[in-house]
Amino acid sequence: MQLTASIFTLLAVATFSSVQAAPAKDIIPPVSTVPVSKTARFTMASNPNFQPNATRSVFKARSKYFKYIEGPVTFSSGVGVVPVVDYANDIEYYGTVKIGTPAQSLKLNFDTGSADLWFASTLCTSCGSTQTKFNPNKSSTYQSSTKTWSIGYGDGSNASGVVGYDTVNLGGISIPNQGIELAKKESSSFQSDPIDGLVGLAFGSIITAKGVKTPMENMMSQNLIDSPVFGVWLGKQSNGGGGEYMFGGYNSAHIAGTLTTVPIDSSQGFWSINVSGTTAGTTSSVSSLGSFSGILDTGTTLMLFTNTMATKVAKVYGATDNGDGTYDINCNTSKFAPLSFTINGAKFSIPPADLIYYRSSSRCIAGFGYADLPFAILGDVFLKNNYVVFNQQVPNVRIAPSK
Ligand SMILES: *[C@@H]1O[C@H](CO)[C@@H](O)[C@H](O)[C@H]1NC(C)=O
Ligand SMILES: *[C@@H]1O[C@H](CO)[C@@H](O)[C@H](O)[C@H]1NC(C)=O
Ligand SMILES: *[C@@H]1O[C@H](CO)[C@@H](O)[C@H](O)[C@H]1NC(C)=O
Ligand SMILES: *[C@@H]1O[C@H](CO)[C@@H](O)[C@H](O)[C@H]1NC(C)=O
Ligand SMILES: *[C@@H]1O[C@H](CO)[C@@H](O)[C@H](O)[C@H]1NC(C)=O
Repeated sequence: MQLTASIFTLLAVATFSSVQAAPAKDIIPPVSTVPVSKTARFTMASNPNFQPNATRSVFKARSKYFKYIEGPVTFSSGVGVVPVVDYANDIEYYGTVKIGTPAQSLKLNFDTGSADLWFASTLCTSCGSTQTKFNPNKSSTYQSSTKTWSIGYGDGSNASGVVGYDTVNLGGISIPNQGIELAKKESSSFQSDPIDGLVGLAFGSIITAKGVKTPMENMMSQNLIDSPVFGVWLGKQSNGGGGEYMFGGYNSAHIAGTLTTVPIDSSQGFWSINVSGTTAGTTSSVSSLGSFSGILDTGTTLMLFTNTMATKVAKVYGATDNGDGTYDINCNTSKFAPLSFTINGAKFSIPPADLIYYRSSSRCIAGFGYADLPFAILGDVFLKNNYVVFNQQVPNVRIAPSK
């Protein structure tokens, strides 16, 4: 459970028990020396039996020249949509992914902070009784391999197993021969989790199954999507929940205002951005708290800062350190100013209401924390307020306030 689950588990434990923040060394996966191809190849096949088909022609042209396309994708071909469930108090978001032939449906957490696509399987001796387990014997398209995988996460949890290949359907986009990681073992924290596994949406350089391509890499190289992007909208329980991942495009229905293009540093395999300024405080006194770099991580529940930055943010909101990466914060946010970030010249905010993550009678846990990391994690507390279009080819992201 990457950065991801390490924190959502921390909070799923939600009884305010003391949990150690994950040490940085366990959180940063080893970076493979194998370079990731960031260039999708598009070939125009010549076919003597060619039938004129305007839809297909436009689709192909759009695919070939996607980098020039402005605005949202409006066509249905080459775009996959996966609605996600907002679990509990915005702790995690999962969607249904269909694997194999006939399809077996699993509930997977879409995680931009890791790159492995893995789930419980019938080979598993330690998976939870409530988890759906993929049975490779029941899929006619399944191909086994001798490859193995093993992932360890910052909270000490882990999972491992074997690699196979099968058809994976992501929101209507069918990816043939997708590398899938079947769990043979998983640690106990996964057994009580509502999810059956994860879909990693970080860069392929950090996948633990050597030589296996991520779904995004396959969709790009096989020309299955209109554009090498996915758009992420995360809902809020306070506003009806839900959420949506759109592969090959983005959904302007969830965008308020204009998208700002932001460069990405993918050298560590993450979606890392620079934040040039931070403002926070009260309606009568807003402070400038400085710059930082951070990763956009759908798999982490909170907004996590470096310890130094977290101390500054906590101070201006009068929050008290619980010593485990979390803060208690005043439940009355009426005098709070938003927590705002300047990213490539535009301002993106977390409203005062979301500075409270969890409320229990008179006690409130803050939506921000720290994890002893040298960079920040812009987790769900940020992402449920801001829509992000992740472009894996450039790479860059485009961010706008969400609705
Ligand atoms: C034209 O191409 C589109 C996209 O590939 C496809 O969905 C549609 O069925 C095709 N139409 C015809 C008449 O072949
Ligand atoms: C698949 O079937 C084979 C042969 O019947 C059996 O040995 C194996 O354990 C089965 N695998 C799973 C995952 O059920
Ligand atoms: C996986 O986690 C469990 C604790 O949940 C631990 O006992 C085990 O040693 C870990 N395995 C590895 C390979 O790290
Ligand atoms: C972030 O800022 C540093 C220092 O100015 C710069 O070297 C780096 O390229 C920037 N990274 C991105 C992703 O913009
Ligand atoms: C919240 O604080 C404001 C002023 O700081 C006060 O007027 C209001 O009554 C408080 N609300 C509650 C529910 O205590």
